[in-house]
Amino acid sequence: MSSLIFSADETAIARAAHLLRQGGLVAFPTETVYGLGGNATQDRAVAGIFAAKNRPSFNPLISHLPDVAAVAALVEMDPRARLLAERFWPGPLTLVLPRRAGCPVSLLASAGLDSIAVRIPAHPVALALLRAAACPVAAPSANPSGGVSPTTAAHVAQGLDGRLDMILDGGPCAVGVESTVLDLCTATATLLRPGGITREQLEALLGPIALADGHGEDGPKSPGMLASHYAPGLPVRLEAAAPRPGEALLGFGPCPGATLNLSESGDLAEAAAHLFAMLRALDRADFSAIAVAPIPRHGLGLAINDRLRRAAGPRG
Ligand code: TXA
Ligand code: MG
Repeated sequence: MSSLIFSADETAIARAAHLLRQGGLVAFPTETVYGLGGNATQDRAVAGIFAAKNRPSFNPLISHLPDVAAVAALVEMDPRARLLAERFWPGPLTLVLPRRAGCPVSLLASAGLDSIAVRIPAHPVALALLRAAACPVAAPSANPSGGVSPTTAAHVAQGLDGRLDMILDGGPCAVGVESTVLDLCTATATLLRPGGITREQLEALLGPIALADGHGEDGPKSPGMLASHYAPGLPVRLEAAAPRPGEALLGFGPCPGATLNLSESGDLAEAAAHLFAMLRALDRADFSAIAVAPIPRHGLGLAINDRLRRAAGPRG
């Protein structure tokens, strides 16, 4: 076990906040996945995040804040943003909003865009850390770029050991897929990445929203838009009725012959929480590929299918 992993008690959180203020990199739990945090106002810390993950610098980062007042200090919140904040924050929703004049977030974090992605995570450790650090914290998922996202402290250590200063262990993540990214810089709100808050939940509040088409000309607007992402080492085959010889089968619902099952009862929230850990567990040399049973496309199924499609996408 990595010597960088600390159980997230008061002392460890205070130490992590100090490291963040000093420009260090700290992995911390959120309700979605573990984040690789750095001080969003420091160019060097933000550059360190991109380097640690080997992430293309045109993919902007989310700034994490402890409360709406801290968010409103960075970005212009229109009435839609206020409504969504009231209903879904803290929670797995990221809003892309216009940067305020004088906003201290590093331009590197927003990849030079005039918008910033912001979210308030629903995790007691994340909120305590953000309050103590008292700076916006840029945090992508704490894994090497393109790979499977981490939902435990051990996953973070497996991928990034030696490239960060500290890992706060808050146990496994409850939601298991990343936040929904919603762009509010457009007249109609645009879903850039499906995630923990469902399209149905958003549309119940906002009316119809637009869906991003997927592949922009000037690089992706959201890295979730990359064809290959969230990929284990083995090939992934989707909509599988049964495993072929040598394949592991990741099941959903009643699925005799499944090597592992995302949710035997067919519960999408349970499946999302298990998704990344089970992809990792099946990523073994004694299998030739990971076959995945069909998963419904409503509710959290939209985010699960999005991650699986990219896990199965053509590799670069
Ligand atoms: O659940 C989550 O969102 C996790 C936890 C750690 O909070 N974080 C996460 O970060 O998934 P990351 O970097 O893996 O994904 C950030 C997403 C990307 O799709 C990125 O393109 C998009 O947010 N994004 C960030 N800033 C943006 C901006 N200004 N305009 C459009 N998209 C933006
Ligand atoms: Mg990620």
